[in-house]
Amino acid sequence: MKLIHFTDTHLCLPGESLYGQSPEERLQACIDSINEEHGDAALCVITGDLTHRGDPAAFELLQTLIGQLRIPCQLVIGNHDHRERLCRQFPELGRDEHGFVQSVTHTEAGTLIFMDSVKNGTHAGAYCAKRRDWLALQLEQAPGDVYLFMHHAPFATGIKAMDQIGLDCEDAAALKALLKAHGRVRHLFFGHYHRPIHGTWAGIGFSTLRSMNHQVVLDLTTPDRLAFNHEPPAYAVALLDRDQVVIHDHEFMDMSARFMPGDEPECDQQ
Ligand SMILES: [Fe+2]
Repeated sequence: MKLIHFTDTHLCLPGESLYGQSPEERLQACIDSINEEHGDAALCVITGDLTHRGDPAAFELLQTLIGQLRIPCQLVIGNHDHRERLCRQFPELGRDEHGFVQSVTHTEAGTLIFMDSVKNGTHAGAYCAKRRDWLALQLEQAPGDVYLFMHHAPFATGIKAMDQIGLDCEDAAALKALLKAHGRVRHLFFGHYHRPIHGTWAGIGFSTLRSMNHQVVLDLTTPDRLAFNHEPPAYAVALLDRDQVVIHDHEFMDMSARFMPGDEPECDQQ
């Protein structure tokens, strides 16, 4: 099964720029690339920070843009979003009995679980007992392999300024115990960090990637100062099979020349 993952679209009002870039134009370019190159994917998942300020007009813009996708699109909530406004614009989004934006989809590759890690009033995340109880039930009912999608990572990434607004430590420890006990989660897709990060946690493969708009500088030492840059955006093409999970990051705005081995491409002089 081919699945597209991208994250942190940070849409503002129509036509509005953010940190000198247009999140709207970036998302449009991303959608055009997916439609042209990966229209055979089964699903596209956006792992949160869909909007920058949770404006109703930004959610409306998101709906218009993703409506152009030739493949289904699943939204996950992030800390920059607003739960009620998001659900007002997308009433079809699944919610659990407590109102958290959590749902499950069964696919040929396994059970996909979309989680809500938002804690109101802070950019940090939470995955409280109510959410974990819901997740435990979904894991129990999942017939085979499971893939998780959430905004915050449930572990420290080493980027200290971002880890300070990561998932609550006690919630993360409890989530880890739950997932280890279940034992059939194959991969965790997340957002929030605006950087390509891959590895394993609790025996589970994980990945995230750059945002659509602005990126976080790779700084593993400074704890109290978050810095951004404009490394190019990307989306991920994930190939989920019985024996393997393969993830390709695609810098879809790269316009450098394509050339064959042995050819001499024309390069811009530095
Ligand atoms: Fe973000």
